[in-house]
Order: sequence, then C-alpha cells, then structure tokens
Amino acid sequence: MASSIVSIINGRPAQGPAAGRVDSPNPSRLADVVAEVTLADAATFAAACAAAKQAQQLWADIPAPVRGKTVAAMSRIVEANKESLARLVTRELGKPHAEALGEVQEIIDTCDFFLGEGRRLYGQTVPSEMPDKQLFTFRVPVGTAAVVTAGNFPVAVPSWYLVPALVTGNTVVWKPAEYAAASAMALFELLQAAGLPEGVLNIVFADGPATFGGLEQALAAGTLDKIGFTGSTAVGARIGELAGRYLQSPCLELGGKNPMVVTPNADLRLAVEGALFSGFGTAGQRCTSLGTVIVHESVHDEFLAQFGAAASAAAVGDPAAEVLYGPMLDQKFASRFEEYLGWIQPHHKILGSSAVGRIGHASPRAGFIGDPEAGLFYHPTIVDGVQADDALFRQETFGPIVGVTTYTGFADAIALANAPGYGLSASIYTNDPREVFGFRRGVSAGMLSVNNSTSGAEAHLPFGGNGKSGNGSRQSGIWVLDQFTRWQAMNWDYSGHLQKAQMDVTEIAADLDFRLKA
Ligand code: UN1
Repeated sequence: MASSIVSIINGRPAQGPAAGRVDSPNPSRLADVVAEVTLADAATFAAACAAAKQAQQLWADIPAPVRGKTVAAMSRIVEANKESLARLVTRELGKPHAEALGEVQEIIDTCDFFLGEGRRLYGQTVPSEMPDKQLFTFRVPVGTAAVVTAGNFPVAVPSWYLVPALVTGNTVVWKPAEYAAASAMALFELLQAAGLPEGVLNIVFADGPATFGGLEQALAAGTLDKIGFTGSTAVGARIGELAGRYLQSPCLELGGKNPMVVTPNADLRLAVEGALFSGFGTAGQRCTSLGTVIVHESVHDEFLAQFGAAASAAAVGDPAAEVLYGPMLDQKFASRFEEYLGWIQPHHKILGSSAVGRIGHASPRAGFIGDPEAGLFYHPTIVDGVQADDALFRQETFGPIVGVTTYTGFADAIALANAPGYGLSASIYTNDPREVFGFRRGVSAGMLSVNNSTSGAEAHLPFGGNGKSGNGSRQSGIWVLDQFTRWQAMNWDYSGHLQKAQMDVTEIAADLDFRLKA
C-alpha cells in the first residue's frame, strides 16, 4: 500500500498550495507504489525556514548535554526500528537488504558519535598578553540550516547533517529526494520521537526549482544561515553561487570519478574483489563508486580476465535476495545511465555480462534473480581501453559501469587519477610503501584507501572532496562541527583599567648578543 506524504513544518502538515504530486515507486517492482508525495512550492519552503528560524533560539538555549541526550534517544529509537527501516529502504530504493541494514547502522554510528558532543562542545581558555585579563573561545550554532539530500543514501547521509546540526543547537529544514520520500519520512518520524520541540526539525518535499526558489527567498529574508547539499556537481555549483551572494559557504558533497590504481605488486584477487564491490555495489550509484581502474600494463590482462569473470558471475536482481546489486534507484537514474552507455565507442572492449543496457526477456542475464521486466535492472558493464579524453573517463557515470585503462610509470598513474578533476575518493592496491605515500602526496582526493575499495567510509572520519567533488567542506566526526558552528572569541579584562593589546605588554629584557665562550 502506498503512504501519502506531505511536508511537515512546525510539527504540522504544510498548509501552502500543492505544487504537484509525484509517486515514489519500488524500483524493483515498478507497479508497487511506495508513496504518493505532495510537493511544496518555493514560498512553503521559505516558510519552513522562517519557522525553523523562530524555533532556533529556544533550541540553542537548551543545555548542550540535554540536546546530546536527545541524540542518544534517537540512536536507541533507530536501533529498535533497524529492521523495518532497512526493509523500507530496500523496497523504495532497491538496496540489497544487507546493505540497507548497513545504511541504518550508519545512522546509529553517527548518533553514537555525536551524543557525547553534547557534553563536550569544547571551547578554550587562552592566556592573554596582559595580567588580569582572560581570553576564551566558544562554539556557537550557525542558526538555521537547509539540508538538501540525494536518495542513494536516503537515511544515512541525511543523518550526517541532521545529527551534528541539531546537537550543536541549530534548527533544520530537510529536503529529501522525492524518490526516497517514504524512507525520509520514516527517519523524520524516528528522530521526532526523540522529543524534538516543534519547528526544530522540519521536512519539506519539493522539486528542484521550488527548492532553489525557496533557498533564495529564505536567504533574502535572513531566515537561512547554512545550506548542506549532497548531489551533482552542476547543482552544487549553482548552490555555491547562490550562497556566495549572501557570504555563506555551503557544505557541498558532490559527485566523484573515483580511480583505483592497481600496481604490479598488488594482490590481484583483493583488487578484483574491491573493484567488484565498489564498481557494482549499489548498482554503482554511490558517490564513492569506482569510476576507472588504472592498472599497470604488466598486470592488465590478468586483472581484466579476473574482473570480467567476477562481474559475469555476480548475482544481480531482487534486492530482497542475496545479490551484489539490485535496480537503479529511480527512472531518472535509469534514463541517465542509458545516456552514459551511449558514450561507449568502437575502440572500447566490453566485458562483464551477456549484453549492455537494461536486463529483460530480450536481453537476459544468466543467473538473474527475480523478474527483470518488473524493475529497472541493468547489466554490469566493464569498458576496457578507455582513454584520457573519452567522456567515459572524464565524467561521473552513476550506474553499474567501470572503465579500465593502463599506465606505464607511476607518475602516469597519478596523473590519470587526477585528470578528471573530481577529488572525492581514490584507492591504490600495492604493497610498496613508497607507492602508498607517493599516491597520498600526489592524488587530490579527500579520501584515500590502500588495499581497499573506493567505497565504505566510516562514520567518524572526515568525508568530503575537492575539485568537482566539493568545496573542501568535510562531514562526519569532529570535522563537521566546523560546518554547523562558528567560533566566537571573548576577552575579559578585570584589571580595572584599559590595557591596550600589543602596547601595554610587559617586556622581559633578553641579551640577544649572548654567545658561548669558545
Ligand atoms: C554517498 O554515496 O553519498 O563510503 C555516501 C561509502 C558510504 C557513504 C557513501 N559509507 O560508500
């Protein structure tokens, strides 16, 4: 049965006029509509920001340790609902069940990390240049944040924003992807159950133009202090431009064209396992998914043969079963993926399956689990022989496709890893420490893996990218605190007279000409 979903502002269903309705279908059984979603217009989005702004001071006035207890309650509530939330994620987004459970675990891990932050939120005491004067620093919440998220991680990645934003005393308007509406609403309800006061967390469903318009209105009205955005490089650039006009720096988590370098001394079995998981897991729809394998020419043939065989043998299909991957997240992603497949050229060699494109009766895949015609299932595709000026090498291709190219000298491998201009995640398979640290120095990605795939970041390390992957902002762990708080410095002079910094400072005479006797 489909649930009916509307935006919730100040604890109540949104009143504004509906800007349209969309269905969120189950991508592995399109006839199963998971949610019918009412979309809000730009004014409603802006009204949500105004409501959040109104609620912010009271929320910030609640002692941080008490806010931390609310996060502890969120962790327990999500844990108690782990199985049902994971099932919903599988039904609405097509993630295999084990992966969906991992996704929910990532929320719990995030809450467990930040519940203690309520008892820390440390500032510093700093010595002054002058006597009877003390210096301090305080972390203060930024204010109201709008968080706009994608649906490939419909609940885990949102929690990376929502939990630290809330524990540090901000209020939030969350705009999830429409095709992940039921999962998002479930997370919203679980977080609300921890007792958040009205207006502290609001959820708004809106299409791209209404969201952009709403952000613009709220920025102009002064009711929005921070934007968090996970999505494409193109939209991230537009959001950065908009925020910049208001002298704000958004937290941007954008795409990736994540390279994996396989060196001559690599354990090839391990590299193949990593390439299979990060290339095809989640049907290649992670921002950390593998883009191109850059393999040394001496091991290329062996690597390719093993990788091709592993992809051909992988279980694809019904995400409720034990599969490597299920369907595309949504029709929008399936259509775009078909465009990327159009980038394959005659100089490329294809491996990994019996055909390229959508799996169906006319284009079957051996060992497919379930009914391929019912959903958005695609063949895994390995494209060997990609070259540095191919679109397939240069652009993110969200979907089950991996390019393979070769290198001769290590410097070429690094140049190829950096060439597309993204910089989210990069991996190297090697047993040579000089290569490990040469790679670390040379590669521009925010996250590096050694003898591990490009995916699978843990919830308490900095997550984020450079170049086309982001503006240098980092989520997760202690690093995200700088996104949702600002440092405030205070000095307190209790000497009873004006002491001027740099001028009224005691000097201790030093004999700078002093030398040891020869
Ligand atoms: C994303 O695709 O936006 O490292 C996040 C990983 C996951 C997070 C991916 N833990 O692949």
